[in-house]
Amino acid sequence: LYMVCDQYSILITGGAGFVGSHLCYLFLKKGFNIISLDSFVNSTYEVSNNIRNLLKYEKVNIQNSFKFIKGDIKDTILLRKIFKEQLDINKPIKGVIHLAGLKSANESFKNPLKYWSNNVCGSINIFKVMEEFNCKIIVFSSSATIYGLTENKIINEKTKIKPINPYGNTKSTIETILNDIYFNSPNSWKIANLRYFNPIGAHPTGMLGENINDTPNNLFPYILQVALKKRNCLNVYGNDWPTKDGTGIRDYIHIMDLAKSHLLSFMNLLNSPPKIINLNIGTGKGTSVLELIRVFEEVNQCEIPWEFKSRRIGDVPICVADNSLCKKVLDWVPKKDIKTMCRDGWKWASSHPNGF
Ligand code: UFG
Repeated sequence: LYMVCDQYSILITGGAGFVGSHLCYLFLKKGFNIISLDSFVNSTYEVSNNIRNLLKYEKVNIQNSFKFIKGDIKDTILLRKIFKEQLDINKPIKGVIHLAGLKSANESFKNPLKYWSNNVCGSINIFKVMEEFNCKIIVFSSSATIYGLTENKIINEKTKIKPINPYGNTKSTIETILNDIYFNSPNSWKIANLRYFNPIGAHPTGMLGENINDTPNNLFPYILQVALKKRNCLNVYGNDWPTKDGTGIRDYIHIMDLAKSHLLSFMNLLNSPPKIINLNIGTGKGTSVLELIRVFEEVNQCEIPWEFKSRRIGDVPICVADNSLCKKVLDWVPKKDIKTMCRDGWKWASSHPNGF
């Protein structure tokens, strides 16, 4: 399946981030040439050492198939340079996995322009340069946040798109742009919008994981910081949501399962005629905040002190995927359960208490 992948390369924007680093690892392991482009605003250069060490540990020889570049997707000149260089060395960029973007719903309320500029303008730059170099395969990192507040208990891809924060607006806008690109030049682009639910966990060796140095916005990295005793107490935002225990329900998915879905999406696009697909990437199982805390404590034999706080703006009560479409299209099933996510996440954090 992957045999000819040495004749081209894949650009991963945001390749140093939580999702990006696990993708670099997985694609390199499968023999792809990978160029990671990341500004390091939410990550560090050190990430590349962890990726290399993990591959070395697994006795995977990647020779010189990995480039790890610092740069911004708003820098069109740099983007052109990267595409041009790959052409010159006869390993043209065949497709882009576009993850780069800002991702805090909360911060996006305070600074919407920053979100529109980075996420939307940045994406437009990528798409333009791709077009210039006739590179028309893209896997885009979208988000379940674009569904917003929905009546549906389980969300499928036909559920109405109605984001409730500026961050979500930028993600749905990028999907709209990709739709326009596709429908106005059919028979050329191959596009997959992957709508992530809540990726957590880490590589099972604990050698790669999420950078959790700053104040985390998300639940799981916050739990890790409390477990590390870097913070005294977890705030549980809301005990009055219309859910079984009053706390928010999410569809947590193991980062390695999520990574695998990108590999399958890319191969699917590569081997099919031009198309655009939207896929929910989740497990289909809902877990409440209190349930996640309990599982984490049980699996890792530790205590996570927590207290109720009022609801956080921009939150929804329930967000769980109907994942039947991606299971069918990608012939994929997420394999790892909540316990495994908690165990692997803690393995990473406890062995890297200060991050990368
Ligand atoms: N929560 C807490 N305490 C915290 C952090 C979160 O109780 O310190 C709660 C939230 O209220 C929510 C649940 O834990 O009920 C999950 O919150 P996260 O911030 O971990 O995840 P979100 O579902 O809010 O957001 C995530 C991503 C977004 C993405 C969205 C899609 O961070 O980028 O999923 O649903 F858009």
